Amino acid sequence: MAAPALPLPLAVAAALLALAAAWLWDYAVARHLLRPRAVASVLRAQGVRGPPYRYLRGSNGDVRRMKAEADGAALDARDHDYLPRVVPHFLAWKYKYGAPFLYWFGPQPRICLFDYESVRQVLWNKSGHFTKTDTHPTILAMLGKGLVLVEGTDWVRHRRVANPAFAMDKLKMMTTTMVSCAERLIRECEELAATNKSGEVEVEFSRHFQELTAEVISRTAFGSSYKEGKEVFRTQKQLLALAMATLLNLQLPGFKYLPTKNNRLKWMLEKKMRTTLMAIIQPRLASKGSGFGDDLLGLMLEACFMTEQGEKRDELALTMDEIIDECKTFFFAGHETTSHLLTWAVFLLSLHPEWQERLREEVLRECGKANPTADMLSKLKEMTMVLLETLRLYGPVLTMLRKPISDIRLGSLSIPKGTGIMIPIPILHRDKEVWGENANEFDPLRFENGITNAAKTPQALLSFSIGPRSCIGQNFAMLEAKSVMAMILQKFSFTLSPKYVHAPTDLITLQPKFGLPIVLRPLDV
Ligand code: HEM
Repeated sequence: MAAPALPLPLAVAAALLALAAAWLWDYAVARHLLRPRAVASVLRAQGVRGPPYRYLRGSNGDVRRMKAEADGAALDARDHDYLPRVVPHFLAWKYKYGAPFLYWFGPQPRICLFDYESVRQVLWNKSGHFTKTDTHPTILAMLGKGLVLVEGTDWVRHRRVANPAFAMDKLKMMTTTMVSCAERLIRECEELAATNKSGEVEVEFSRHFQELTAEVISRTAFGSSYKEGKEVFRTQKQLLALAMATLLNLQLPGFKYLPTKNNRLKWMLEKKMRTTLMAIIQPRLASKGSGFGDDLLGLMLEACFMTEQGEKRDELALTMDEIIDECKTFFFAGHETTSHLLTWAVFLLSLHPEWQERLREEVLRECGKANPTADMLSKLKEMTMVLLETLRLYGPVLTMLRKPISDIRLGSLSIPKGTGIMIPIPILHRDKEVWGENANEFDPLRFENGITNAAKTPQALLSFSIGPRSCIGQNFAMLEAKSVMAMILQKFSFTLSPKYVHAPTDLITLQPKFGLPIVLRPLDV
């Protein structure tokens, strides 16, 4: 005989209860307890050890504590080994557990690699086996799901649309914009110096470079709409501050949908950025007949209406949301990194007057006192060497992250699917076996025979990454950095201000915590 059926409300309640219990089991037990244990045990069996897993929080508390302890100690300005300040947790775990080690970003297992061979295997993989890891919601809001974060066929589509905007002939045209933005900064410094009897003036370059590179990307990306573009810069800065404050917080499911104070601020900023970008993009799309313009946005829209075979198409290759996200990506990736490259290059040249003089001679030889052109900049070999050495020692991007989509062999290790793979760039850049005994010293001569011959391992410089996902904007960044450096060297000599405190800090990118005060002396007085 069949059992009597439950009344409907009771049946619904029972079904909901069963669903909730299944979810709770999956979330609280399977994903956050059993899986971390299983991953740790697979890796432990292969000799990979690390800090113990703490339920939900993983190693985040330890990272926060070690970083806070290290943050108090400033370094001698000539000490380029800032690793104990910036990545104290990686050093401590490497020392205690050996390399590679396993740690926990919340419940996510992460294996930290220290050998170039495995790093190359990950970054050069073309089968899409290693994807980017899940991105923190506030970072996603700031950066957009553009080229940096998309995967698979979406990535192919986005990269095809973005590539033409970064072709060398287009970048050469953009050099004029870079130079005219730098001219304004130089003029401002000259005017400041003129107000001082001694002719010397102290300038905080970190802030100036952030404004300069935001101006450059606003103008090169959005042409005549650059003022609205700068609004994006201000909003991204606020989102960056919010991301830094919440990055290591516990991420509970559904939390990002709750109207907390931080979430509401995030939503407001996200909406503001979207409205600003829509106001820039829509008139461009409407002007289809008369061309989209030769700035980054225009070139990208142009490519959106082309097929792979170069024929015209009626529909956009990217949706409006994807174009908005791509604009956010270019904007953030395009100014934040380059401004810090400039900051650290000025820092290093102020410590090494012999290199400052060498570069000045090279600039005056190749460009005279005129504003540099792209062709002149391409002849600045020693400048390139100094910028590459700056990227090696003080590269703005500190880490890269990937995760395999299925279990995979990496060197002698078998890595379980979904395990985060952490690539700590500044640690690898100081590997003495690869870079030589003077790996911690500033020595641009190591790049005398090009990047490939700079170290014992080819492609050891990871600052722009390597492989198919390497930086699309590297030529843009190098041209911009060279224009600005050349123009400063033409007009000023400079030294580090006694007020400078050497405290490199991880704020998603590597930055001087207290800015970069520099004493400038005009050369013509
Ligand atoms: C000094 C300046 C720069 C540095 C150090 C730098 C560094 C990097 C690195 C390390 C990556 C790889 C990230 C990863 O795979 O996780 C990357 C990717 C990328 N960068 Fe840059 N970048 C710089 C300038 C720029 C500029 C000026 C732009 C654009 C205007 C830009 C746009 C991008 C984009 C769109 C990607 C993603 C490429 C892809 O996945 O196909 N970057 N960058």
